[in-house]
Amino acid sequence: MRASQPRNVVTNPSLSPISLPTFNRHDFGPDFIWGTATAAYQIEGAVDRDGRTPCVWDTFSRQKGKIKTGETADIACEFYDRYESDLLIHKELGLTAFRFSLSWSRILPNGVGPLHGGRINEAGLAFYDRLIDHCLALGITPWITLYHWDLPQALETKGGWPNRKIVDWFADFADVCTKAFGHKVKHWIILNEPLAFSILGYFTGQHAPGRRSFRNLLPVIHHTTLAQAEGGRVVRRNVANAHVGTTFSCSPVDPFTPGDQAAAGRVDALMNRLFIEPALGLGYPTKELPFLAGIAKKVAKPGDMEQLAFDFDFIGLQHYFRAVVEQSYFMPYLWAKDVSPLRRSVPTITEMGWEVYPESMYRVIKQFGQYEGIKKMYITESGAAFYDTVQNGEVNDKARVKYHQNYLQNVLRAKQEGFPVDGYFAWTFLDNFEWAEGYRPRFGLVYVDFRTQQRIVKASGRWFQQLLTDHSFVNQ
Ligand code: FCB
Repeated sequence: MRASQPRNVVTNPSLSPISLPTFNRHDFGPDFIWGTATAAYQIEGAVDRDGRTPCVWDTFSRQKGKIKTGETADIACEFYDRYESDLLIHKELGLTAFRFSLSWSRILPNGVGPLHGGRINEAGLAFYDRLIDHCLALGITPWITLYHWDLPQALETKGGWPNRKIVDWFADFADVCTKAFGHKVKHWIILNEPLAFSILGYFTGQHAPGRRSFRNLLPVIHHTTLAQAEGGRVVRRNVANAHVGTTFSCSPVDPFTPGDQAAAGRVDALMNRLFIEPALGLGYPTKELPFLAGIAKKVAKPGDMEQLAFDFDFIGLQHYFRAVVEQSYFMPYLWAKDVSPLRRSVPTITEMGWEVYPESMYRVIKQFGQYEGIKKMYITESGAAFYDTVQNGEVNDKARVKYHQNYLQNVLRAKQEGFPVDGYFAWTFLDNFEWAEGYRPRFGLVYVDFRTQQRIVKASGRWFQQLLTDHSFVNQ
């Protein structure tokens, strides 16, 4: 469902004008969190420095044809060396929360910690320690993601997510990280979008490690769900006053025609319910997706089903687009397929081929807000890739400004209706390595010239700055 389109057909950066009520930051309340989200592999570079070993993305990006542009993240944004000056820009924009992930293989070069015979790379921990201290010194609150897709290659070699031992390996990693940083960092996110790395990594093979088989799918889903809850328990145990959550990709799903209702229900179960429902103690959505019953029958060990739930303090919603689907006999297990935005002639499609549809933000908050067990929600990612150009040293990314404005407007609408949504992390701070798409899609509030590593704050960054720092600013 993470569809992308050929480059020559996508971009239409002008948004059709829609009239929206005005807002300013105070409408969101004093406790609303304003930040950006990033991921280690996409920004850090320095892939072989100070004891870091390869992760699955290092291996995958070196294989021919896996990354559309043939690029790797060896250098990326050089955030490893530039974090100090970069965070000064972050502060200048008035964004006071910074979400970043920890590179597992920087911290545990063999993937496993001392409990499993591995060793901790002190230089890896030291980097994150400096980064955290720098955030704190600038008045920026760190939000740590434990796993944003960069599995150590050493663990993939031992079987990766299909190997049940991953649950212990992950718990071990979480233990090391929380013991090292739990006294300074209170906001912890266990996984970034379990659906994406399990399906794209092990079923369709579009993402690292690039495996494609149905055989892996149920074990990967189950081990990920177990790790999600186990990670929560480790954070709770090790971090005093922890604020612990995990993130989910989510999209409202509409049927293409009235006859596609059941197909939409199945896709909704896959895209929106598969990982949250077991975490809430509701089990896997086997009614809509009967193949998931194979987990209890063939994959789970006795007692597992009681281990899937965890009482998260919050959940992170990562929302970009809605899905419109139709019945299809060619897509096994799901019997449904995406009706692309191009086919639907939607007015605004991003460089990723994703539909811009602001109301879908309101709808996902409402949908997830209906679960009883969810206490608080944050938008831990939302953003858009548009083709950016530098003119006279400036990047006037009007379409991205409109995107954030309109999506935020819909966050506010949900909030005003009483849904407990308390923050927005723009994806993303810096243009970066967009996984299998390479560096081409630019999502940043800050432009990066990848030849010179020069940074240019885009109009969208300035828009956030005005919203957050100019008290008379009212969004029009
Ligand atoms: C999300 C990922 C993030 C980035 C955005 C565009 O699914 O979590 O790393 O790739 O999409």
